[in-house]
Amino acid sequence: MSALDSKHTDENVVWHSHAIDKNFRAEQKKQRPALLWFTGLSGSGKSTVAGALENKLAQLGYHTYLLDGDNVRHGLCRDLGFSDHDRRENIRRVGEVAKLMTDAGLIVLSAFISPFREERELVRELLPKGDFLEVFVDTPLDVCESRDPKGLYKKARAGEIKAFTGISSAYEAPEQPEIHLHTDQHTIDAIVAQCLSVLREQGVIA
Ligand code: ADX
Repeated sequence: MSALDSKHTDENVVWHSHAIDKNFRAEQKKQRPALLWFTGLSGSGKSTVAGALENKLAQLGYHTYLLDGDNVRHGLCRDLGFSDHDRRENIRRVGEVAKLMTDAGLIVLSAFISPFREERELVRELLPKGDFLEVFVDTPLDVCESRDPKGLYKKARAGEIKAFTGISSAYEAPEQPEIHLHTDQHTIDAIVAQCLSVLREQGVIA
């Protein structure tokens, strides 16, 4: 590694505080920024629920952004695969981006499998207490597998995809999620209503 490659810990890189800060941007948008972190198996309904909730929040006049695993992996994280190491790096990057977006005053929704508890907790710790809400999309593996919207479970069972979450790679369920959803038992409208009611209780929305 050359001197030009020296890392972010470099003592010559100093944090700069700008006059327009998170509070200013949040007040300008008349909202409290937060990160709603959807986690669950592939096919559990993370993107669907996050998208429906974002629609509702937008209709109510909130400023939002949805970060979606499948999309982010086409750009920011296109160099990453699905080894444990790469999934950790995926979540680390997305956590940092989500933090910047909350700093911009937005209500951010993220939909990533994010299978490891430790990485989800690291993202929680990046943000001020109360700004991170873990949303567990708790759809049983057999239901996800029967949905198989992208045909990936079939390929994983046939051994054509290695390290597939739930089949050949671990998923560590949240222990105390702020929001616990059962997409196999309720309609999408009921689930969105459940999310909104927790967001009200937590003071994220009025
Ligand atoms: S994470 O584990 O790093 O959080 P992420 O949410 O970004 O995963 O991407 C998951 C999506 O990638 C799945 O919905 C699926 O479409 C696709 N995918 C491709 N290979 C795998 C795999 N081995 N395990 C899980 N999902 C995979």
